[in-house]
Amino acid sequence: MPASVVLGAQWGDEGKGKAIDQLAPNSQWAVRFQGGNNAGHTIVAGGTTLKMHLLPSGITASDCKLVLGCGMVVDPWVLDRELKEWAELTGEHPEGERLFISERAAVILPFHRLYDSADKVVGTTGRGIGPAYRDRTERVGIRFVDVGLLMGRSQEIGEMARRMNEQLATVGVEDRIDPVQLGSELKWIHERFSNAIRATGPMLDDALARGEQVLLEGAQGAMLDIDQGTYPFVTSSITCRANATHGAGIHPGHIEQCYGITKAYTTRVGNGPFPTELSLEEGPGKQMSVVGHEFGTTTGRPRRTGWLDAVALNESQRLNGYTGLVVTKLDVLGGLDELKICTSYELDGQEVKHLPSSSEELSRCKPVYETHPGFPAMGEEEWIQIAEESRNGGGIGSLPSSIRAYLTRIEEISGVPVVSVGVGPDRLASIASSGGPFDIELSEATF
Ligand code: GDP
Ligand code: IMO
Ligand code: MG
Repeated sequence: MPASVVLGAQWGDEGKGKAIDQLAPNSQWAVRFQGGNNAGHTIVAGGTTLKMHLLPSGITASDCKLVLGCGMVVDPWVLDRELKEWAELTGEHPEGERLFISERAAVILPFHRLYDSADKVVGTTGRGIGPAYRDRTERVGIRFVDVGLLMGRSQEIGEMARRMNEQLATVGVEDRIDPVQLGSELKWIHERFSNAIRATGPMLDDALARGEQVLLEGAQGAMLDIDQGTYPFVTSSITCRANATHGAGIHPGHIEQCYGITKAYTTRVGNGPFPTELSLEEGPGKQMSVVGHEFGTTTGRPRRTGWLDAVALNESQRLNGYTGLVVTKLDVLGGLDELKICTSYELDGQEVKHLPSSSEELSRCKPVYETHPGFPAMGEEEWIQIAEESRNGGGIGSLPSSIRAYLTRIEEISGVPVVSVGVGPDRLASIASSGGPFDIELSEATF
C-alpha cells in the first residue's frame, strides 16, 4: 500500500489537522516530516478540540502509529507537555508504544528559542525553528541520536554553550546558556525520550513493504516553503511534496495520493506580502476573521485575511502535483454578496501569472479578480445537516448550485478535482466527493 501526503496549499492553517484526522483511521502510520511546533493543527471532534503542535494529527486513530520524522525540529519540552495533555485526556502514553521519534530529527534547545526571539523581520512564531534548522545546516546541531552519546561529555557540552553564548551576543539577546544546566537538560531529554527514539526511516520502509498505509502530514504551506515561498517571509523548511518522503526517510516513489488543503479564501500570519489581503476592520475581511475565528493556533496572533489567491494556489499545484483539493471553511463565506478569486496580478502595468520571486515585487502586485455570486449564511447545524445528507450518496452534489459553481471554478482554475469541502470545524462537517478518497465513514469522537 502506498503513502499519501496532506499539504498546505497556501500560507498555513488551511485545515490540515482536520483532514489528517479524517484519513487516519484508514492509515497504519501518520508521520510529520518537517517543521516543528511552529505548526498548530486543530482537530474538533464532538465536544473536544485538540491543538497539535508536534504530535501527528493521526493520534486520534488509536491503531495509527505515529512518527516524528527525520526532517523535523523537535522541542522536547513541548513534546513532553503535549504528551501530558494527551495522557490527561485519554490515559494513553504513546511514547515508545506507538509514537516514535527519528534518531535523525534535530533537537530544539532553549538557545534556539532565545535566538529566535531576536527576529524583527519575518514575524516568526518564536519557537526556535529557524535557528534549529540553521544549526543543522551548519552541522553543529544535536539530533536525538546524539543526545545519548553526549552524556558525561562535559567538555563538549561546555564548548557548545560557549558557541551558543557568542551567537546570542551577536543578536543582542542578553540571556546566556549555562553549560551545567545544558548538561542536565540533555540528560533529561535522554531519560525522558530514549524509549521512543528509533531509526524511523527503516521502520516506515518495512511497513510499506508489508503493505501498510502511510500518511505524511505537512506543516505550514507551500507559500511558506524556504525555497519556493515568499522569501524571506517563509519558514525554514521545505514544506512541499518533494520533502514529504525525504523528511520521513523513505523514497518519493511511495507517494500515490497528494492532497492540497486550501481555504475557500486566504489567511496569513506573520509578515510578508499578501496580494489579496483585505481589511480586518470591515467588510468581507472582517467576516473571514470573525466568523472563521482567524487567530493563530500556535501564537494566538490575528491572522490576516483575503480573497482566494488562485495565482498562489496554482504555484502550489506546480510544486506539489495534487491528486485532490480539500477546500475548507466554505461556511465562513456564507452571507457575502459576492465572492472574488484572484486569477492574475498586475505589476507595473503588466499581467503576471506567476508569483514574482522577489517579495518586494510581490508586495507591489495588484490582484486581478473575477467575481462570483455569494450564497446565504447558514448556521453550524444546517451545514452539518447538509454534510450528513451528502453522506447518503449525494456527495458534493448535495450543496446548493451557487456554492457548487464556486467550487467548480476552483477546479477549473487549478486543474485539480475537489475531493472534500469543509463546512465547519467539526470532524463531521465535511462534504466529500462521492466515491472519492474522503468518502469514508466518519465516527463520533472516541475521547
Ligand atoms: P492547520 O494548521 O492547517 O491544521 O489549520 P489550523 O488548525 O491552524 O487552522 C484551521 C482552523 O480552522 C481551525 O480552527 C479549525 O478548527 C478550523 N476549520 C477547519 N476546517 C474548517 C471548516 O471547514 N470550517 C470552519 N468554520 N472551520 C474550519
Ligand atoms: P501550520 O502547520 C501559519 C509562519 C510564521 C512566520 C513564518 C516563519 O499550523 O499551518 P517560523 O516560526 O516557522 O520561523 O515562522 O511562518 N508560520 C505559520 N503560519 N501556519 C503555520 O503552521 C506556520 N508555521 C510558521 O507566522 O510568518
Ligand atoms: Mg495551523
